[in-house]
Amino acid sequence: MTMAFSKASCQTLIFALLLLCNLRALEAQTPAPAPGLSYTFYRTTCPNLETIVRQQLQTVFASDIGQAAGLLRLHFHDCFVQGCDASVLLDGSASGPSEKDAPPNLTLRAQAFVIIENLRRLVHNACNRTVSCADITALAARDAVFLSGGPNYSIPLGRRDGLTFATVNVTLANLPPPTANASFILESLSTKGFTPTDVVSLSGGHTIGIGHCGSFSNRIFPSRDPSMDQTFFNNLRLTCPTNTSNNTTVLDIRSPNVFDNKYYVDLMNRQGLFTSDQDLYTDSRTRTIVTNFAVNQTLSYQNFINAMIKMGQLNVLTGTQGEIRANCSRRNSNDLFILPNMERDQDEKVASY
Ligand code: HEM
Repeated sequence: MTMAFSKASCQTLIFALLLLCNLRALEAQTPAPAPGLSYTFYRTTCPNLETIVRQQLQTVFASDIGQAAGLLRLHFHDCFVQGCDASVLLDGSASGPSEKDAPPNLTLRAQAFVIIENLRRLVHNACNRTVSCADITALAARDAVFLSGGPNYSIPLGRRDGLTFATVNVTLANLPPPTANASFILESLSTKGFTPTDVVSLSGGHTIGIGHCGSFSNRIFPSRDPSMDQTFFNNLRLTCPTNTSNNTTVLDIRSPNVFDNKYYVDLMNRQGLFTSDQDLYTDSRTRTIVTNFAVNQTLSYQNFINAMIKMGQLNVLTGTQGEIRANCSRRNSNDLFILPNMERDQDEKVASY
């Protein structure tokens, strides 16, 4: 009897230890700020920066919460291509089409670019030309998460804006397609220093927003992807009747406009929209991480925050690198008559000439 009891308690202990190890592995450390970035970067030069951005976005989202998803995705597309340097915001020029013209960026919301430029104008009116478009984009993504019901967190600031954009081919090579399986995504993101836990955490961004039929038609035409729930499939076929439909549907059917951990619950129910989502639950390397996040929202948030801070520091320009753009869609040197020392309120001055 005593023997049986101690064997059972031993088994319970081993189970508890395994569970603890499992969770420990998911206990991510907040990444240290990259050299040149800091949590207090604008303390003296633009002390009201974060208040200005948050209040403005509160107003924007009050009339259309969908814009939060557009801003979160914009930051991701900025950081993955050439680093978080606001290169995704640049218009094309005589030198060629810009990142904006590359296929993955054609579904970025046009309004997201307008919101960023409006934020820039407000911020520069208050603080002159001290804050980069890259930092404004990073702050907008951070606030998109919080104002949609997600966690509140601080991010390191001090990014500078890039002078060039990537080619269409480089853009394509750095943004994995939604048809990719977990192996492809894990391999592709590991080249940027992301662990499998980071990959699952970042994919949690799909808890808000929408996707076009073309992004998941591979899973519903000519027939149902076997890893997709039958009722979910039936409904998607109503939204996308043919394989050329251009309608949209939500990424997270349980709470499409709320930043929460329901995306992971969707995956466990085979209701992930893209191959790149659902395969995180099929693949044995990421399945347990998905399950842990589905049952523990706090854990999913901690890991999301850390992965976002890591993503937000990819190849940043700092110090005297790059510039602080006076208009987020153009590099300053396009304005040939602006001298380098005219950093104050440049666009307003130009307008009054
Ligand atoms: C891991 C690889 C990823 C792939 C393959 C991917 C792919 C996609 C695709 C195809 C769409 C929909 C485009 C459309 O059809 O309109 C989308 C939307 C979205 N993605 Fe991702 N994504 C990835 C990672 C991320 C990350 C890291 C974030 C942010 C942390 C993110 C945030 C979003 C959001 C918020 C939307 C909705 C945008 C809107 O409603 O305008 N994605 N993603």
